[in-house]
Amino acid sequence: MSEKTPAHSAYFPKIRVLATGGTIAGMAGSATRHEYRPGQIGIDDWLERVAEFGLAAHLSGVQIANIGSEDIGPPVWSALHSAIGDAMADDDVDGIVITHGTDTAEETAFLLDLTLPATKPVVIVGAMRPADAVGSDGMRNFVNAVRVASDPEASGRGVVLVMGDRILAARDARKVRTRGTDDAFRGFPRGSIGLVTPAALEWFGRPWREGEGARYAYSEAMPEVPILYMGAGMTAELVDRILPENPRGIVIAGVGEGNMPDAVRERLIAHRKNGLIVVRASRVDEGLVDREPEDDPNGFVAARALNPQKSRVLLMVLIANKEGDLNRVQAAFDNP
Ligand code: SIN
Repeated sequence: MSEKTPAHSAYFPKIRVLATGGTIAGMAGSATRHEYRPGQIGIDDWLERVAEFGLAAHLSGVQIANIGSEDIGPPVWSALHSAIGDAMADDDVDGIVITHGTDTAEETAFLLDLTLPATKPVVIVGAMRPADAVGSDGMRNFVNAVRVASDPEASGRGVVLVMGDRILAARDARKVRTRGTDDAFRGFPRGSIGLVTPAALEWFGRPWREGEGARYAYSEAMPEVPILYMGAGMTAELVDRILPENPRGIVIAGVGEGNMPDAVRERLIAHRKNGLIVVRASRVDEGLVDREPEDDPNGFVAARALNPQKSRVLLMVLIANKEGDLNRVQAAFDNP
Protein backbone atom coordinates (compact mmCIF):
# COMPACT_ATOMS: atom_id res chain seq x y z
CA MET A 1 0.00 0.00 0.00
CA SER A 2 1.33 3.47 -0.88
CA GLU A 3 0.92 6.30 1.61
CA LYS A 4 1.11 10.08 1.41
CA THR A 5 0.97 12.00 4.70
CA PRO A 6 0.70 15.80 4.66
CA ALA A 7 3.28 17.63 6.78
CA HIS A 8 0.78 19.13 9.24
CA SER A 9 -0.17 18.19 12.76
CA ALA A 10 -3.97 18.89 12.58
CA TYR A 11 -6.24 15.87 12.14
CA PHE A 12 -6.68 15.01 8.49
CA PRO A 13 -9.20 12.37 7.44
CA LYS A 14 -7.65 9.12 6.28
CA ILE A 15 -8.84 8.24 2.81
CA ARG A 16 -8.24 4.88 1.14
CA VAL A 17 -7.95 5.22 -2.64
CA LEU A 18 -8.81 2.10 -4.64
CA ALA A 19 -7.61 2.48 -8.22
CA THR A 20 -9.12 0.52 -11.11
CA GLY A 21 -7.90 2.47 -14.18
CA GLY A 22 -10.04 4.26 -16.76
CA THR A 23 -9.48 7.63 -18.38
CA ILE A 24 -8.66 9.25 -15.06
CA ALA A 25 -5.49 7.12 -15.16
CA GLY A 26 -5.21 7.44 -18.94
CA MET A 27 -2.47 9.02 -21.07
CA ALA A 28 -2.52 10.24 -24.68
CA GLY A 29 1.20 11.00 -24.97
CA SER A 30 0.29 14.45 -26.32
CA ALA A 31 -1.85 17.25 -24.90
CA THR A 32 -3.88 17.52 -28.13
CA ARG A 33 -4.27 13.92 -29.34
CA HIS A 34 -7.80 12.45 -29.25
CA GLU A 35 -6.75 8.79 -28.96
CA TYR A 36 -5.39 7.67 -25.63
CA ARG A 37 -4.96 4.56 -23.51
CA PRO A 38 -6.95 4.29 -20.26
CA GLY A 39 -5.30 2.77 -17.16
CA GLN A 40 -1.71 3.96 -17.71
CA ILE A 41 -0.94 5.77 -14.43
CA GLY A 42 -0.39 3.54 -11.39
CA ILE A 43 -1.61 4.45 -7.92
CA ASP A 44 1.88 5.37 -6.62
CA ASP A 45 2.42 7.79 -9.49
CA TRP A 46 -1.11 9.18 -9.02
CA LEU A 47 -0.59 9.85 -5.31
CA GLU A 48 2.73 11.60 -6.14
CA ARG A 49 0.84 13.89 -8.54
CA VAL A 50 -1.88 14.56 -5.93
CA ALA A 51 0.71 15.43 -3.26
CA GLU A 52 1.55 18.72 -4.97
CA PHE A 53 -1.96 20.03 -4.14
CA GLY A 54 -1.39 19.68 -0.36
CA LEU A 55 -4.85 18.25 0.33
CA ALA A 56 -6.07 18.21 3.93
CA ALA A 57 -6.28 14.42 3.90
CA HIS A 58 -3.99 11.47 4.42
CA LEU A 59 -4.21 9.25 1.34
CA SER A 60 -3.30 5.58 1.07
CA GLY A 61 -3.66 3.75 -2.21
CA VAL A 62 -4.34 0.22 -3.43
CA GLN A 63 -4.16 -0.80 -7.08
CA ILE A 64 -7.16 -3.08 -7.68
CA ALA A 65 -6.80 -3.11 -11.48
CA ASN A 66 -5.58 -0.73 -14.18
CA ILE A 67 -7.97 -1.29 -17.08
CA GLY A 68 -10.67 0.34 -19.16
CA SER A 69 -14.02 0.01 -17.42
CA GLU A 70 -15.54 -1.89 -20.35
CA ASP A 71 -13.56 -4.84 -18.91
CA ILE A 72 -14.80 -4.38 -15.36
CA GLY A 73 -17.20 -7.05 -14.15
CA PRO A 74 -17.52 -9.68 -11.41
CA PRO A 75 -13.76 -10.30 -10.80
CA VAL A 76 -13.00 -6.59 -10.24
CA TRP A 77 -16.31 -6.10 -8.38
CA SER A 78 -15.30 -8.88 -5.98
CA ALA A 79 -11.84 -7.39 -5.42
CA LEU A 80 -13.36 -3.93 -4.84
CA HIS A 81 -16.07 -5.23 -2.53
CA SER A 82 -13.53 -7.04 -0.41
CA ALA A 83 -11.09 -4.06 -0.29
CA ILE A 84 -13.93 -1.71 0.71
CA GLY A 85 -15.04 -4.19 3.38
CA ASP A 86 -11.48 -4.13 4.78
CA ALA A 87 -11.39 -0.33 4.67
CA MET A 88 -14.77 -0.05 6.39
CA ALA A 89 -13.60 -2.36 9.16
CA ASP A 90 -10.36 -0.40 9.60
CA ASP A 91 -10.58 2.32 12.28
CA ASP A 92 -7.72 4.03 10.51
CA VAL A 93 -9.84 4.74 7.40
CA ASP A 94 -12.45 7.52 7.38
CA GLY A 95 -13.56 7.34 3.77
CA ILE A 96 -13.00 5.50 0.50
CA VAL A 97 -12.45 6.85 -3.02
CA ILE A 98 -12.59 4.54 -6.05
CA THR A 99 -11.04 5.75 -9.32
CA HIS A 100 -12.86 4.13 -12.25
CA GLY A 101 -13.50 4.45 -15.97
CA THR A 102 -16.66 6.40 -16.66
CA ASP A 103 -18.18 3.94 -19.15
CA THR A 104 -19.42 1.50 -16.50
CA ALA A 105 -18.93 3.59 -13.34
CA GLU A 106 -22.69 3.74 -12.83
CA GLU A 107 -22.91 -0.05 -12.75
CA THR A 108 -20.06 -0.53 -10.28
CA ALA A 109 -21.42 2.30 -8.11
CA PHE A 110 -24.91 0.78 -8.03
CA LEU A 111 -23.67 -2.75 -7.36
CA LEU A 112 -21.58 -1.53 -4.42
CA ASP A 113 -24.45 0.64 -3.19
CA LEU A 114 -26.74 -2.42 -3.08
CA THR A 115 -24.24 -4.66 -1.29
CA LEU A 116 -22.34 -2.42 1.17
CA PRO A 117 -23.32 -0.83 4.46
CA ALA A 118 -23.78 2.95 4.42
CA THR A 119 -21.52 3.51 7.41
CA LYS A 120 -18.51 5.23 5.77
CA PRO A 121 -18.34 7.49 2.73
CA VAL A 122 -17.70 5.60 -0.52
CA VAL A 123 -17.10 7.85 -3.53
CA ILE A 124 -16.54 6.73 -7.11
CA VAL A 125 -14.83 9.14 -9.49
CA GLY A 126 -13.54 9.21 -13.06
CA ALA A 127 -12.55 11.58 -15.82
CA MET A 128 -13.64 12.30 -19.37
CA ARG A 129 -10.18 13.41 -20.52
CA PRO A 130 -6.87 11.67 -19.96
CA ALA A 131 -4.40 13.05 -17.43
CA ASP A 132 -2.10 14.68 -20.03
CA ALA A 133 -4.87 16.30 -22.15
CA VAL A 134 -5.45 20.04 -22.33
CA GLY A 135 -8.32 20.72 -19.91
CA SER A 136 -8.04 17.34 -18.22
CA ASP A 137 -10.79 16.97 -15.61
CA GLY A 138 -9.34 14.03 -13.67
CA MET A 139 -7.40 15.80 -10.93
CA ARG A 140 -10.22 18.25 -10.19
CA ASN A 141 -12.75 15.41 -9.99
CA PHE A 142 -10.36 13.47 -7.74
CA VAL A 143 -9.74 16.41 -5.39
CA ASN A 144 -13.52 16.90 -5.21
CA ALA A 145 -13.98 13.19 -4.46
CA VAL A 146 -11.45 13.36 -1.60
CA ARG A 147 -13.32 16.35 -0.19
CA VAL A 148 -16.61 14.41 -0.28
CA ALA A 149 -15.08 11.22 1.19
CA SER A 150 -13.53 13.32 3.99
CA ASP A 151 -16.92 14.69 5.06
CA PRO A 152 -18.72 12.67 7.80
CA GLU A 153 -22.00 13.95 6.26
CA ALA A 154 -21.25 11.79 3.21
CA SER A 155 -21.91 8.58 5.12
CA GLY A 156 -25.53 7.46 5.28
CA ARG A 157 -26.03 8.28 1.60
CA GLY A 158 -24.71 5.00 0.20
CA VAL A 159 -22.19 5.05 -2.64
CA VAL A 160 -22.00 8.38 -4.45
CA LEU A 161 -20.45 9.39 -7.76
CA VAL A 162 -18.56 12.66 -8.16
CA MET A 163 -18.11 14.14 -11.66
CA GLY A 164 -18.18 17.70 -13.00
CA ASP A 165 -18.53 19.31 -9.53
CA ARG A 166 -21.73 17.34 -8.88
CA ILE A 167 -22.50 14.60 -6.38
CA LEU A 168 -24.93 11.95 -7.61
CA ALA A 169 -26.41 9.03 -5.67
CA ALA A 170 -25.37 5.66 -7.15
CA ARG A 171 -28.93 4.67 -8.00
CA ASP A 172 -29.50 7.90 -9.94
CA ALA A 173 -26.12 8.42 -11.66
CA ARG A 174 -26.13 7.95 -15.44
CA LYS A 175 -23.52 8.60 -18.07
CA VAL A 176 -25.44 10.67 -20.62
CA ARG A 177 -22.70 11.98 -22.92
CA THR A 178 -19.65 10.46 -24.54
CA ARG A 179 -17.83 13.81 -24.72
CA GLY A 180 -17.55 16.87 -22.52
CA THR A 181 -16.72 17.10 -18.85
CA ASP A 182 -19.24 19.04 -16.76
CA ASP A 183 -22.40 17.41 -18.07
CA ALA A 184 -21.24 13.88 -18.93
CA PHE A 185 -23.25 12.49 -15.97
CA ARG A 186 -26.72 13.28 -14.77
CA GLY A 187 -28.89 12.09 -11.92
CA PHE A 188 -32.29 10.54 -12.72
CA PRO A 189 -34.91 10.66 -11.29
CA ARG A 190 -33.15 12.70 -8.61
CA GLY A 191 -30.65 15.25 -9.87
CA SER A 192 -27.53 16.13 -7.90
CA ILE A 193 -27.64 15.42 -4.16
CA GLY A 194 -24.85 17.95 -3.62
CA LEU A 195 -22.30 20.23 -5.22
CA VAL A 196 -18.58 20.13 -4.64
CA THR A 197 -15.52 22.10 -5.71
CA PRO A 198 -11.97 21.85 -4.37
CA ALA A 199 -12.93 24.77 -2.06
CA ALA A 200 -16.50 24.00 -0.97
CA LEU A 201 -19.05 21.25 -0.40
CA GLU A 202 -22.81 21.64 -0.15
CA TRP A 203 -25.33 18.83 0.41
CA PHE A 204 -28.99 19.03 -0.62
CA GLY A 205 -30.97 17.24 2.08
CA ARG A 206 -30.09 14.86 4.90
CA PRO A 207 -28.57 11.37 4.60
CA TRP A 208 -31.33 8.78 4.10
CA ARG A 209 -29.46 5.57 5.01
CA GLU A 210 -27.71 6.59 8.22
CA GLY A 211 -26.17 3.60 10.03
CA GLU A 212 -27.84 1.18 7.59
CA GLY A 213 -26.27 -2.20 6.82
CA ALA A 214 -25.91 -3.78 3.37
CA ARG A 215 -29.27 -4.29 1.67
CA TYR A 216 -28.18 -7.46 -0.14
CA ALA A 217 -25.43 -9.99 0.39
CA TYR A 218 -22.60 -9.77 -2.11
CA SER A 219 -22.08 -13.01 -4.02
CA GLU A 220 -19.01 -14.06 -5.97
CA ALA A 221 -21.32 -16.16 -8.14
CA MET A 222 -22.99 -13.44 -10.21
CA PRO A 223 -25.38 -14.86 -12.82
CA GLU A 224 -25.30 -13.83 -16.49
CA VAL A 225 -28.22 -11.48 -17.22
CA PRO A 226 -28.51 -10.29 -20.83
CA ILE A 227 -30.07 -7.01 -21.95
CA LEU A 228 -32.23 -7.26 -25.08
CA TYR A 229 -32.42 -3.86 -26.81
CA MET A 230 -35.69 -3.45 -28.70
CA GLY A 231 -36.01 -1.94 -32.16
CA ALA A 232 -39.02 -1.56 -34.43
CA GLY A 233 -40.09 -4.86 -35.95
CA MET A 234 -37.81 -7.12 -33.93
CA THR A 235 -38.74 -10.78 -34.09
CA ALA A 236 -39.15 -13.52 -31.50
CA GLU A 237 -36.15 -15.37 -33.00
CA LEU A 238 -33.92 -12.80 -31.33
CA VAL A 239 -35.19 -13.95 -27.95
CA ASP A 240 -34.32 -17.54 -28.84
CA ARG A 241 -30.84 -16.48 -29.91
CA ILE A 242 -30.14 -14.51 -26.75
CA LEU A 243 -31.57 -17.16 -24.40
CA PRO A 244 -29.84 -20.37 -25.48
CA GLU A 245 -28.42 -21.18 -22.03
CA ASN A 246 -31.62 -20.65 -20.06
CA PRO A 247 -30.45 -17.61 -18.06
CA ARG A 248 -32.42 -16.93 -14.90
CA GLY A 249 -33.21 -13.36 -15.91
CA ILE A 250 -33.35 -10.91 -18.80
CA VAL A 251 -33.78 -7.14 -19.04
CA ILE A 252 -35.69 -5.72 -21.97
CA ALA A 253 -34.56 -2.26 -23.06
CA GLY A 254 -38.03 -1.68 -24.42
CA VAL A 255 -39.40 1.02 -26.68
CA GLY A 256 -41.27 3.81 -24.90
CA GLU A 257 -42.46 2.68 -21.48
CA GLY A 258 -40.81 -0.75 -21.71
CA ASN A 259 -42.87 -1.97 -24.67
CA MET A 260 -41.98 -4.71 -27.17
CA PRO A 261 -43.53 -6.34 -30.26
CA ASP A 262 -46.28 -8.90 -29.53
CA ALA A 263 -44.20 -11.78 -30.86
CA VAL A 264 -41.30 -10.95 -28.54
CA ARG A 265 -43.65 -10.64 -25.56
CA GLU A 266 -45.26 -14.01 -26.32
CA ARG A 267 -41.85 -15.72 -26.60
CA LEU A 268 -40.73 -14.24 -23.28
CA ILE A 269 -43.95 -15.40 -21.62
CA ALA A 270 -43.21 -18.89 -22.95
CA HIS A 271 -39.73 -18.75 -21.34
CA ARG A 272 -41.30 -17.77 -18.00
CA LYS A 273 -42.19 -21.44 -17.44
CA ASN A 274 -38.43 -22.13 -17.06
CA GLY A 275 -38.30 -19.57 -14.24
CA LEU A 276 -36.98 -16.71 -16.40
CA ILE A 277 -37.45 -13.33 -14.68
CA VAL A 278 -38.31 -10.66 -17.26
CA VAL A 279 -37.73 -7.00 -16.35
CA ARG A 280 -39.21 -4.33 -18.61
CA ALA A 281 -36.95 -1.25 -18.73
CA SER A 282 -36.89 1.51 -21.35
CA ARG A 283 -34.41 2.46 -24.05
CA VAL A 284 -35.60 6.07 -23.60
CA ASP A 285 -33.02 8.26 -21.88
CA GLU A 286 -35.22 9.38 -18.99
CA GLY A 287 -37.68 6.51 -19.15
CA LEU A 288 -39.92 5.72 -16.20
CA VAL A 289 -41.54 2.30 -16.56
CA ASP A 290 -44.52 1.68 -14.27
CA ARG A 291 -46.39 -1.57 -13.85
CA GLU A 292 -49.23 -2.07 -16.29
CA PRO A 293 -52.22 -4.42 -15.85
CA GLU A 294 -50.77 -7.03 -18.28
CA ASP A 295 -47.67 -7.42 -16.11
CA ASP A 296 -49.66 -9.57 -13.67
CA PRO A 297 -50.81 -12.24 -16.15
CA ASN A 298 -47.53 -11.99 -18.10
CA GLY A 299 -45.42 -12.37 -14.94
CA PHE A 300 -43.22 -9.38 -15.87
CA VAL A 301 -41.46 -6.88 -13.61
CA ALA A 302 -41.39 -3.11 -14.28
CA ALA A 303 -37.98 -1.41 -13.92
CA ARG A 304 -39.53 1.85 -12.66
CA ALA A 305 -36.74 4.50 -12.65
CA LEU A 306 -33.79 2.17 -13.33
CA ASN A 307 -32.27 2.19 -16.79
CA PRO A 308 -31.51 -1.18 -18.49
CA GLN A 309 -27.90 -1.42 -17.24
CA LYS A 310 -28.87 -0.65 -13.65
CA SER A 311 -31.85 -3.03 -13.91
CA ARG A 312 -29.41 -5.73 -14.98
CA VAL A 313 -27.20 -5.12 -11.93
CA LEU A 314 -30.16 -5.26 -9.52
CA LEU A 315 -31.52 -8.41 -11.18
CA MET A 316 -28.06 -10.07 -10.96
CA VAL A 317 -27.90 -9.26 -7.24
CA LEU A 318 -31.46 -10.52 -6.63
CA ILE A 319 -30.85 -13.78 -8.49
CA ALA A 320 -27.51 -14.27 -6.69
CA ASN A 321 -29.51 -13.85 -3.46
CA LYS A 322 -31.88 -16.58 -4.69
CA GLU A 323 -34.82 -14.20 -4.93
CA GLY A 324 -37.41 -15.62 -7.29
CA ASP A 325 -40.65 -14.23 -5.85
CA LEU A 326 -41.97 -11.74 -8.41
CA ASN A 327 -43.69 -9.54 -5.82
CA ARG A 328 -40.44 -9.16 -3.90
CA VAL A 329 -38.48 -8.61 -7.13
CA GLN A 330 -40.95 -5.85 -8.08
CA ALA A 331 -40.63 -4.33 -4.58
CA ALA A 332 -36.84 -4.22 -5.02
CA PHE A 333 -37.28 -2.26 -8.27
CA ASP A 334 -39.87 0.01 -6.62
CA ASN A 335 -37.33 0.98 -3.92
CA PRO A 336 -33.84 0.39 -5.29
C1 SIN B 1 -13.33 3.77 -19.39
O1 SIN B 1 -14.50 3.74 -19.01
O2 SIN B 1 -12.44 3.08 -18.87
C2 SIN B 1 -12.93 4.65 -20.53
C3 SIN B 1 -13.71 5.90 -20.60
C4 SIN B 1 -13.56 6.78 -19.40
O3 SIN B 1 -13.00 6.47 -18.37
O4 SIN B 1 -14.07 7.94 -19.52
